[in-house]
Amino acid sequence: MAGRIPQQFIDDLLARTDIVDLIDQRVRLKKAGKNYQACCPFHNEKSPSFTVSPDKQFYHCFGCGAHGTALGFLMEYDGLEFLDAIDEMAAMHGLTVPRESTGGSSPQQQAAARAERQDLYGLLNDISQFYQQQLRSASAAIDYLKGRGLSGEVVKRFGIGYVPDQWDSVKRRFGKNRDTERQLIDGGMLLQNDNGRVYDRFRDRIMFPIRDRRGRTIGFGGRVLGDGTPKYLNSPETPVFHKGRELYGLYEVRQAHRNPERILVVEGYMDVVALAQFGIDYAVASLGTSTTPDQLQLLYRTTREVICCYDGDRAGREAAWRALENALPLMQDGRSLRFVFLPDGEDPDSLVRTQGQQAFERLLDNAQDFGDFLFERLAQDSMGGDAGQHELAHKAAEAIMRVPEGFTREGLVTQLSRQLNWGENERRIKELFARLKPAEGEKNRRRARKNSS
Ligand code: CTP
Ligand code: MN
Repeated sequence: MAGRIPQQFIDDLLARTDIVDLIDQRVRLKKAGKNYQACCPFHNEKSPSFTVSPDKQFYHCFGCGAHGTALGFLMEYDGLEFLDAIDEMAAMHGLTVPRESTGGSSPQQQAAARAERQDLYGLLNDISQFYQQQLRSASAAIDYLKGRGLSGEVVKRFGIGYVPDQWDSVKRRFGKNRDTERQLIDGGMLLQNDNGRVYDRFRDRIMFPIRDRRGRTIGFGGRVLGDGTPKYLNSPETPVFHKGRELYGLYEVRQAHRNPERILVVEGYMDVVALAQFGIDYAVASLGTSTTPDQLQLLYRTTREVICCYDGDRAGREAAWRALENALPLMQDGRSLRFVFLPDGEDPDSLVRTQGQQAFERLLDNAQDFGDFLFERLAQDSMGGDAGQHELAHKAAEAIMRVPEGFTREGLVTQLSRQLNWGENERRIKELFARLKPAEGEKNRRRARKNSS
């Protein structure tokens, strides 16, 4: 593990950064008295109520209440996590972020690991360029993409490429010496067999570059041109690619919309690209696994409304349920989570092609709210009669208590009392929650202990 960033470095970095410069590079500021003004980048407005104070090194919007420091602005506006924002800020000043050593590795070793990650980003980016260039002369691959209805424009926007049917097209160009060969093995682009022979992981596939929020290529998904298996081959976990923490297409969504009103989560690469081609340029794919808490965090840092799109079959509903469970602790007021279940045998790619953008977006407009999905599912699972009601009440209350306090949670409580036909019988509801509270508190404490040990 990398060590902590020394507090002194963060303090220095903040002291060196002028909030006016930083914001002005992103939103044109106008001088107004002592301060600077602009139309607020965080909400829609015609006259400027966003002000930046050079004295206080603070921004504040009188319209929507957004406010914070330079670092806070960078996190909000560029949609970065704390560490990434620090990285970005350091880069603006041409600095690299130091790490305090943590027992195991020396500062030198850490610096080496960091340099290696930087090299890997560079290499992956070059490889992505190479794949795109290869596509231009690969008529079978071009035909395949055309056959799937993709335009050259959308292929370019997503940086889609092609890797030739050779054992060493990447190795030959990018793994010329021992060091880069080793890096490419660590980066998941080359494999080494038992005899020590090193060869390309991806061959004769359509290549989808996976980019992080900052647009750096961190891995690839590769699809066979025909019916071969496996249909998709993905980069493994590497020092720069952690599947559960990334979303395919999020970078491209952010290129199209600084503050997307909603984001659609789908399963596949092709779904994301096909939707974009049809004007639905706010979809991301969860990279094979079910939607993780990290992915949901990432989504809610970018938008208020997340719509998860799944198959209507059993597996799809299970996946939706897991996403719901992961999302409950994130459902603070102002956030929305909804579900769309697709007709049998369809995926977003096939559906948007046959139905078109408008019909598809109507599906999204009518998506099921997470509360309705929650109660529907619990009602289905519970038996009838009093025992069933009792069980439903408990399970629902447990779920509801994982939602942060606020209107959303209160709405769910009301919904529960209606579902149970308890009407406005507040007393019974309160008793139910009171009975659960100590138990839940104990569980949280146990969880906290477990996580800290
Ligand atoms: N997937 C994968 N490995 C596989 C199959 C699927 O990683 N062997 C992931 C991919 O991200 C894929 C998604 O699961 O995009 C959905 O898979 P599937 O529904 O089988 O494929 P489609 O997305 O419909 O792909 P296509 O339309 O190209 O057939
Ligand atoms: Mn498909």
